Amino acid sequence: MKKHVVLYKKLSPGLMARLHAQAEVTLIDKLDSDGLTRLRDALPSAQGLLGASLRLDAELLDLAPNLEAVASVSVGIDNYDVDYLSQRNILLSNTPDVLTETTADTGFALILATARRVVELANLVRTGQWKQNIGPMHFGSDVHGKTLGIIGMGRIGEALAQRGHFGFGMPVIYHSHSVKPAVHKRFNAQHRSLPQLLEQADFICLTLPLTAETEGLIGAREFALMRPESIFINISRGKVVDEAALIEALRQGQIRAAGLDVFEREPLEHDSPLLQLNNVVATPHIGSATHETREAMARCAVDNLLAALAGERPLNVVNGEVWDRRRATMCT
Ligand code: DGY
Repeated sequence: MKKHVVLYKKLSPGLMARLHAQAEVTLIDKLDSDGLTRLRDALPSAQGLLGASLRLDAELLDLAPNLEAVASVSVGIDNYDVDYLSQRNILLSNTPDVLTETTADTGFALILATARRVVELANLVRTGQWKQNIGPMHFGSDVHGKTLGIIGMGRIGEALAQRGHFGFGMPVIYHSHSVKPAVHKRFNAQHRSLPQLLEQADFICLTLPLTAETEGLIGAREFALMRPESIFINISRGKVVDEAALIEALRQGQIRAAGLDVFEREPLEHDSPLLQLNNVVATPHIGSATHETREAMARCAVDNLLAALAGERPLNVVNGEVWDRRRATMCT
């Protein structure tokens, strides 16, 4: 008998066809209040779940007693109660790797846009305010040759380092739990303590996941260590930063600009003080949002889910202990 999969994200026709061939599928294509009700109604018989951007907590998971696997169409797993999933023996998978380069491109887009004031100055042209040659008050700052500081040297951090080192001749410094000799070798990068990085980098880029340990990592004390010419970039998660402290740092000129793809609360409220500041470039969480990458992520999630439901190990398991337990049971 086919297993029941609940999708809370619309997939391309090809992927839908693949899923339909192997599972009974319930599609909830919008998570508005009607969609949430349909999701709750579908959960009791669901064996697989696939989607993104929904907080899947114990309360929702308790509605799904038959659930075997959850496939997230994201690399970030901060929406999931991983401990509870593991306790319930539910396999969680995500989609790393396929989005690394695209997300690093977004990081670099924000670096260039903030340093060269692209959005602000393009608006000048668009609104008919370009009346004469621009002068120093509209000049930006160089990117090439400046020090790139990366907090969280995972896959995306490395892809950012690659762009900075090879593309823009930037010295790379980074902060992460461990020193990474391979990164030193490839990008001539140097490990720094967090305070050292904040003091030394021209561009301070966050690429680390949101966890209990990283929540609120960058606050008033950290902004105070940055220099007035520093530019702050966040492509990780909004909650890694104390947003009120960031706004204050921008208002006080403690840093020059910020490029933000993620926010404490998303979507960002239209009346957020961040949007009143010309030196902020804010994008709507577009890190991995290209046609090619979103399709690759969805394909990866479908592969992960179908493998898990077929009793095979998905390529990208988050809670490996669940797989180990299942395998131990299969072998006995
Ligand atoms: C991810 O995959 O985690 C991206 O931030 C999109 O949510």
